[in-house]
Amino acid sequence: MKILFRVLLLTLLGISLGNCSSNKSKKASAASSPKTVANTQYRAPTVKGPVPLNPDMNLPSNFGAGCVTLSRGSTAYPYVAMTFDDGPHPQNTPRLLDMLRARNIKATFYMIGRSVDMYPQIVRRVVAEGHEVGNHSYSHRLLSKLSDDELLRDLSQTRDAIGRAAGVQPRTMRPPYGSLLQRQRELVHSQLGYPTVSWSVDPLDWKRPGPSVVTSRILAGAGNGAVVLSHDLHAPTVEAMPATLDGLLRRGYKFVTVSQMIALSTSAAPAAPRVAAGPAAETAMARP
Ligand code: NI
Repeated sequence: MKILFRVLLLTLLGISLGNCSSNKSKKASAASSPKTVANTQYRAPTVKGPVPLNPDMNLPSNFGAGCVTLSRGSTAYPYVAMTFDDGPHPQNTPRLLDMLRARNIKATFYMIGRSVDMYPQIVRRVVAEGHEVGNHSYSHRLLSKLSDDELLRDLSQTRDAIGRAAGVQPRTMRPPYGSLLQRQRELVHSQLGYPTVSWSVDPLDWKRPGPSVVTSRILAGAGNGAVVLSHDLHAPTVEAMPATLDGLLRRGYKFVTVSQMIALSTSAAPAAPRVAAGPAAETAMARP
């Protein structure tokens, strides 16, 4: 399985076309990365059954350099990225984590900084179980209305909250409501190094159409390179996930995080993927 994945990924890297929209400007400098406290308190829960295998997040140092905006990955293979926004939530997020762990699926959580500060232990669990954390602003304001200074301050504040909570740095951001001007996207990319990530599948789960509708919309919309939007803030969305995830698995989809999808979709080739167990794999993700 491990070797198969490696061969597949290497093949993909060879043939995939970049699908990130980019500007021509180089990333100005490494984003200012605050020192983060070591996560010494958290102990991952005892795992029953096979140990989950975490995908290696050892992405290239120039990760995302050519990617200002991503809405779906470019791959000829059935990879999808599940993304969950607006958490962490004290009940729904742990329930979702149980579902993901039972299936050995890694996802990406676009977290609100204010909630990260309220529930840091959940952020630590998300990270410890091999998922990726993205920046979804500090208090879910409409970022397109903010001045440049306010925008960068808001995203930096969120980045620092995630760093304090779990010792990792987000690699990408998703603006609340998907609303960010192109000029702001380029600013965020040059100053913080974040690709702005939207989505290709939107089940409108926040309107609470019922779990079975959420499932059918996601299954209908999924395709190679899909980036699926949903919200772990809402209980019915989490209730939709067992059938959704099992449906995607039955259709042969494999799950990657958003950063992995970006690496697959750009010419910046990551190192051959290793599969490692436990929180150590996340440490690699934390590197700038
Ligand atoms: Ni949101």
